[in-house]
Amino acid sequence: MTNPKRYLITSALPYANGPKHIGHLAGAYLPADVYARYLRAQKKEVVYVCGSDEHGAAITIQAIKEKTTPKEIVDKYHALLESNMRDLGISFDIYHRTSAEIHHETAQEFFTALNDKGLLEVKESEQLYDEEAKTFLADRYIIGTCPVCGNDSAYGDQCEKCGTSLSPEQLINPKSTLSGNPPAKKKTTHWYLPLNKHEDFLRQWILEEHQSDWKTNVLGQCKSWLDSGLQPRAVTRDLDWGVKVPVAGADGKVLYVWFDAPIGYISATKQWALDNNKDWKPYWEDKDTKLVHFIGKDNIVFHCIIFPVMLKLHGNILPDNVPSNEFMNLEGDKMSTSRGWSIEMDEYINDFVKKENGGDMMVDALRYYLTAIAPETKDSEFTWKGFQDALNSELVAIFGNFVNRTFVLMHKLCKGKVPPIHLDITDEADKKIFEDIRAAKETVEKNIEGYKFRDALFEVIDLARKGNKYMQDKEPWIVAKQVGEDGQPTPEAQKKIDNALHVCLQLTANLSILINPFLPFTAKKMCSMMKVVDKMLEWENAGKDKLLSVGYSLRAPELLFRKMEDAEVEAQIEKLKTKTKKLMDNASNQQGNNKGEETKTLKPIIQFDDFAKIDLKTGTIVSAEKVEKADKLLKLEVDLGFEKRTIVSGIALHYEPSAIIGQKVVVVTNLAPRKMRGIESNGMILMAEDANGKLKFISADELTTNGSSVS
Ligand code: 2FM
Ligand code: ZN
Repeated sequence: MTNPKRYLITSALPYANGPKHIGHLAGAYLPADVYARYLRAQKKEVVYVCGSDEHGAAITIQAIKEKTTPKEIVDKYHALLESNMRDLGISFDIYHRTSAEIHHETAQEFFTALNDKGLLEVKESEQLYDEEAKTFLADRYIIGTCPVCGNDSAYGDQCEKCGTSLSPEQLINPKSTLSGNPPAKKKTTHWYLPLNKHEDFLRQWILEEHQSDWKTNVLGQCKSWLDSGLQPRAVTRDLDWGVKVPVAGADGKVLYVWFDAPIGYISATKQWALDNNKDWKPYWEDKDTKLVHFIGKDNIVFHCIIFPVMLKLHGNILPDNVPSNEFMNLEGDKMSTSRGWSIEMDEYINDFVKKENGGDMMVDALRYYLTAIAPETKDSEFTWKGFQDALNSELVAIFGNFVNRTFVLMHKLCKGKVPPIHLDITDEADKKIFEDIRAAKETVEKNIEGYKFRDALFEVIDLARKGNKYMQDKEPWIVAKQVGEDGQPTPEAQKKIDNALHVCLQLTANLSILINPFLPFTAKKMCSMMKVVDKMLEWENAGKDKLLSVGYSLRAPELLFRKMEDAEVEAQIEKLKTKTKKLMDNASNQQGNNKGEETKTLKPIIQFDDFAKIDLKTGTIVSAEKVEKADKLLKLEVDLGFEKRTIVSGIALHYEPSAIIGQKVVVVTNLAPRKMRGIESNGMILMAEDANGKLKFISADELTTNGSSVS
């Protein structure tokens, strides 16, 4: 959409069920914030909304875990998320919450409007039910094996590993998360959104109209959904936590969390309008509004298929774009709060931002690295070493260094004032810098508007790099050695110094404007050093060559960034390992303590023939080594008598490689080969957990020979 009248930017509403990690920040919040800040600098009419998603099983299950109420959970985590986002400079115009009354009213009105027009279907069907807990098992109340990727803890509505959206019946070996029992079935009535009736519209709108401006990963997921045929989707649930279904006789039923959550964008806009004496309606009804949803890839189907159908039926505008990011991994493994393999926003803030030696500069350092490695087209990887390198060799050595040198030299050689530019001696290099600034501005614009934030950021750093090169070539500190009898630089030398520092200062001012959407705290600090008001950061000022007036005295340089020490990197990696181990140990202990319940989690009965398909053989581990970048994996060589096999086993946190050479083991030898961290694993070693959660080998007698059958 060219020249929209206004922009409405949304970031996926995070579940208020716990802290969120920096992968979430990189996926849905930081890029949206950069976009919003850029548009505001362009003086566009922009509203950026977000808030906590406070309904659904994610919340009630957390309440059970923490032995408290859903209300306590959402109050606690809503406050945490709001303050974390603020500390990291995410500039929402409103951070709302779906437990707010205005949201319940908005969601109910939305549902009623669709229901009254006959746009929803009502159906009775059999649904999974937990006889013991006396409750229907929707969404996260049921886990099982994902039919697509084999993840054995996929939820009833979605597999978080591969992003596939599921229904509980699709899970293999489903189990209630409440009692651990396999579910029964029971009849119930629900309202459905007949997505199947809107396939043509979706095809046309997504695959034709947005074929060239939506990201390929988004188009690809939508296409595969459409190609596999859409089904009516239930938009109500038998639960008591959520927005009540506004229909007489629908007691005990609430709206499906994925029906009410995106309506949260609308209720947040309404609340923002109320707070600011504005009209919310044009934001959702006027076709000249550009609506952009920033999300992670697990949310694509909801924002590109389900919510657009709801919006269309309700008479609202549709999103102009849904720039979704892939996932960000951490030190070789998937980021996961529950496994402790994550850096929570809160953790980062406590470790770096609230520390004496941190502050806002460490917020910008994180914003920098997360944007530089943003998973815009494929999964990316956060490593502490990578973070250190980006901070030390890009932010400190290029950007910070240029600004600092410019200020130090200006104070030393130009009396702390913006020196004049002497046109009689300006040269090509001076002119080139201003051309470079204007070109960089255009490139940054093009990239930000095309949701390519990494490229946009690199362009700014590249401009600072050019500044360093210019300064190096002009070497005013050497020129200053051409002194007259008074010991001061000669008039000719001073003219050269003036020109060089004038150019560098104007470039510094331009850099502050261009970096502002990405590193707002840095830009602000630069403004303070230049003694200019924030208004200078307006985008139209970028490209100008007279941002700082000649003779204007400037402040002393402030440190923009600090280096990260090796010890900090090591401490963080150690912390990560300890955290994940502690959580895993706790989880194992929990299992140990729940022994009485173990019988409940037995898998369904199988026939002897099924068992007979499994080929079990004895063997001996003959070599073992750690798998690079995978904390839990060991690569084993197992002698089976008739051959040696490579098997990758998840036991690295339990055994040192050297300690298990010669260990007798039982191996599943006919398991289909599987690649892990690029290594093909040909089998599986049988293990059992002891009372403390430590994995123990299921071993055959020392005297058995390798290759004996186990039956
Ligand atoms: O995946 C999630 O964390 C959801 N809470 C996102 C909701 S986005 C929107 F629709 F509200
Ligand atoms: Zn899956």
